[in-house]
Amino acid sequence: SARKLLLLPGDGIGPEAMAEVRKLIDLMNIEQNAGFVTEEALVGGCAYDAYGVPFSDDDMARAQSADAVLFGAVGGPKWDEVAYEVRPEAGLLRLRKELDLFANLRPAICYPALAASSSLKQDVIEGLDILILRELTGGVYFGEPKQIIDLGNGQQRAIDTQLYDTYEIERIASVAFELARTRRNKVTSMEKRNVMKSGVLWNQVVTRIHKERYADVTLEHMLADAGGMQLVRWPKQFDVIVTDNLFGDMLSDVAAMLTGSLGMLPSASLGAPDARTGKRKALYEPVHGSAPDIAGKNIANPIAMIASFAMCLRYSFEMVREADLVEKAIADVLADGVRTRDILSEGFREVSTAEMGDLIVAK
Ligand code: NAI
Ligand code: MG
Repeated sequence: SARKLLLLPGDGIGPEAMAEVRKLIDLMNIEQNAGFVTEEALVGGCAYDAYGVPFSDDDMARAQSADAVLFGAVGGPKWDEVAYEVRPEAGLLRLRKELDLFANLRPAICYPALAASSSLKQDVIEGLDILILRELTGGVYFGEPKQIIDLGNGQQRAIDTQLYDTYEIERIASVAFELARTRRNKVTSMEKRNVMKSGVLWNQVVTRIHKERYADVTLEHMLADAGGMQLVRWPKQFDVIVTDNLFGDMLSDVAAMLTGSLGMLPSASLGAPDARTGKRKALYEPVHGSAPDIAGKNIANPIAMIASFAMCLRYSFEMVREADLVEKAIADVLADGVRTRDILSEGFREVSTAEMGDLIVAK
């Protein structure tokens, strides 16, 4: 049956990176009868220019009925002055909210060919393959009250509210254990139960879900600050790290830098399984933004976008073999000494965005 993909290239280098994923989709349709049916729509600044909103209702309906959404990047200086509610990023936020994408997967993988040119200690990063799972729709970024109030004596008070309900922790914990089962079967849960009530509840719920349904997976708990230290000291001790929105934001950015360039990092955001079909809503996107400084020059690294498509194959379509093949093609092309400018170093061959895509497709 058809596999429905909604492609949202967006702004800046988004369309350039998406074009390379298109090549893979076309190849799989022709060579493997993969049956991908694609639709394309505008998101971000280009949607604002066309419709006055960064993501239209019609396109939201398309996203709802697609099996997966592939998202490029949004934003740029052209839209810096537009109203807050219709800024480019609001298009992505709308997608996350309406698809209820509560689980953000950020892998940190170190390709062997890149380990050698890293400034970090070789043995620390070589062969690294960990997954940070960040809760994306709750916690202190969304909890109410959230305000700055005037105390009247020349002082103001800023309030953010860290808030988690049991069901939110249960569902992110379940995703963590299910992912661990497809990997090295270990979950590390990070919170700050020593100073935060949300940490106490997080710890209790993760422990209970583990006992009830996932006792075959190894579970460990770590205070998030100690976890950050361990992540830099010896990241290979981890398999899946599950943590809240705030800690996950920081820890995933730290983990990202273990592996090198922004142009290499994919991500996935998953929603709850559909009650009828069991399928999760999902959006796949590179971690990087629209990179206006290099847009339109055919020099952007398309690997983050291509690796995001590999995640889509793995998590939305259970095409595990194909996902492995795409990831291996990326590793092989890098091992051949080919580099886009952002990861270029002495002695390697520079290629354009399109050439990098072609070489990966050829592999
Ligand atoms: P950015 O990720 O776009 O760029 C940061 C730096 O990394 C730039 O020097 C850029 O050239 C480089 N870079 C990023 N991706 C690359 C790639 N694939 N290949 C080679 N080099 C790459 O972040 P920045 O500059 O903070 O933001 C630029 C715009 O993107 C802003 O409008 C921002 O709001 C937006 N943005 C959008 C995101 C999204 O769509 N999810 C995420 C982050 C930023
Ligand atoms: Mg961040």
